[in-house]
Amino acid sequence: MLSTIQTVLLCAGSFITSSLVCPPNPTVLQDDGVIIILPPRSNDTGLKKVPDAAHPYMPPGPTDQRGPCPALNTLANHGYLPRSGIVTIQNIMDATREGFNMDHDLSAFLAGFALLARGNAKYNLLSIGGVDKRVPSLPAQVDGDCPPGGIAKHGRFEGDVSMTRQDAALGDDRNFQDSLFDQFLTFIGQYGDNSTVTGPHSLVNLRVMQEFKYQRFIDDQKRNPALSFHASRVASSYNEAAFILKFFANGTDETLSVPSLGSIFRNQTFTPNWWRRASPGNLSLITSTASMINSVNTLFYIPPGENKGGKYMPDPPFYGCDPAYYDFVTNNLPYTYAMIANGTDIFAQNVRTLLKAIATPFKCPEVPPNGPKDPSNNCGSSLTNRI
Ligand SMILES: *[C@@H]1O[C@H](CO)[C@@H](O)[C@H](O)[C@H]1NC(C)=O
Ligand SMILES: *[C@@H]1O[C@H](CO)[C@@H](O)[C@H](O)[C@H]1NC(C)=O
Ligand SMILES: *[C@@H]1O[C@H](CO)[C@@H](O)[C@H](O)[C@H]1NC(C)=O
Ligand SMILES: *[C@@H]1O[C@H](CO)[C@@H](O)[C@H](O)[C@H]1NC(C)=O
Ligand SMILES: *[C@@H]1O[C@H](CO)[C@@H](O)[C@H](O)[C@H]1NC(C)=O
Ligand SMILES: *[C@@H]1O[C@H](CO)[C@@H](O)[C@H](O)[C@H]1NC(C)=O
Repeated sequence: MLSTIQTVLLCAGSFITSSLVCPPNPTVLQDDGVIIILPPRSNDTGLKKVPDAAHPYMPPGPTDQRGPCPALNTLANHGYLPRSGIVTIQNIMDATREGFNMDHDLSAFLAGFALLARGNAKYNLLSIGGVDKRVPSLPAQVDGDCPPGGIAKHGRFEGDVSMTRQDAALGDDRNFQDSLFDQFLTFIGQYGDNSTVTGPHSLVNLRVMQEFKYQRFIDDQKRNPALSFHASRVASSYNEAAFILKFFANGTDETLSVPSLGSIFRNQTFTPNWWRRASPGNLSLITSTASMINSVNTLFYIPPGENKGGKYMPDPPFYGCDPAYYDFVTNNLPYTYAMIANGTDIFAQNVRTLLKAIATPFKCPEVPPNGPKDPSNNCGSSLTNRI
């Protein structure tokens, strides 16, 4: 019999067999925690056809978690991530590199933030969907009474003005929304580039993203009185659009056609004959693309802010190292981590490792987490229906 700690490590090391060797409900976890050691930077970062033969598409089973992120759902559907959707930070870093050629520091930041915000950093476990028994609560109510929400839980990671999910205050913020995707397709049909293979106006480009993201903001600003669009969410929201342009495009010619987009977004499977990017996509690639979409010198520009009494109120200007980094850590991670990080146990060490991973690609000096704990009256806010 494997001990739980061995099982956790096996799951971390093996994508293909993970759903076979991982028990569906490990109930007893090693008390000290599971130490997080980030994988080294890989040199396997060139053009590659994805998926390979070892990673066929299989639809998720009834206990497999899927959530608001099409890229992670697709990686799990192909077994690059454990098909259960219960993952470690190493799982995410390995899978996003193998499947999308995401840069080491960018994936460490994204997965590190997700793990601290919505997972269990003591055991290195995160649900890519909703709350799950396999991801235990944090010790000593570090983040309030609720179990870790998974990345589908609204706030911190999941947020407003998504491309294909509703705002949480308006409806389903977890599952793919056909009506929003249809709007996206309409914008491609209007502003997209022509292709000799897939036809006129069938390729996603920067202009499509500018027009569609702007329209999404205008709609949500009108309809969602609780609209929250502060610096970290502006970054995530426009970075999401940049991810689509830079990570979902065919790596050989850097074009993204409507059928490819539909495959990954709607069906959550890689399109046939698709190559991942030819060079690692890092944070500066993504933020520079995002700032061309949300470009200060255009009509499309949306500053960070929130709705107050039906009016959009921009935030005051920020003079620190990076407004998104600062907002992610100081407002979206609970203040209790600052104290935990001063400890000597495995949990403390993991928190320090993850806080450092978040700061690294921004090249900012680390700031301590200073956000509120998760409100205890809000444990089950993410919808539980499946894709
Ligand atoms: C990566 O590095 C390993 C060992 O350092 C080497 O054997 C391998 O050929 C390298 N692969 C590429 C694609 O450069
Ligand atoms: C794209 O195709 C449309 C319709 O066939 C055509 O009107 C338009 O001029 C083409 N655009 C470019 C840039 O070639
Ligand atoms: C999505 O899957 C459905 C059902 O298998 C299929 O009919 C459709 O063509 C797929 N769409 C895309 C864009 O791949
Ligand atoms: C990607 O590009 C290659 C080479 O240009 C082409 O053969 C393949 O069909 C393209 N795949 C997609 C999904 O566009
Ligand atoms: C990010 O990637 C670009 C190439 O896309 C490269 O020029 C740049 O040096 C990289 N930046 C960092 C910080 O690694
Ligand atoms: C953690 O330790 C540092 C350095 O000793 C100290 O400045 C800081 O106040 C401590 N933080 C907490 C929350 O205890």
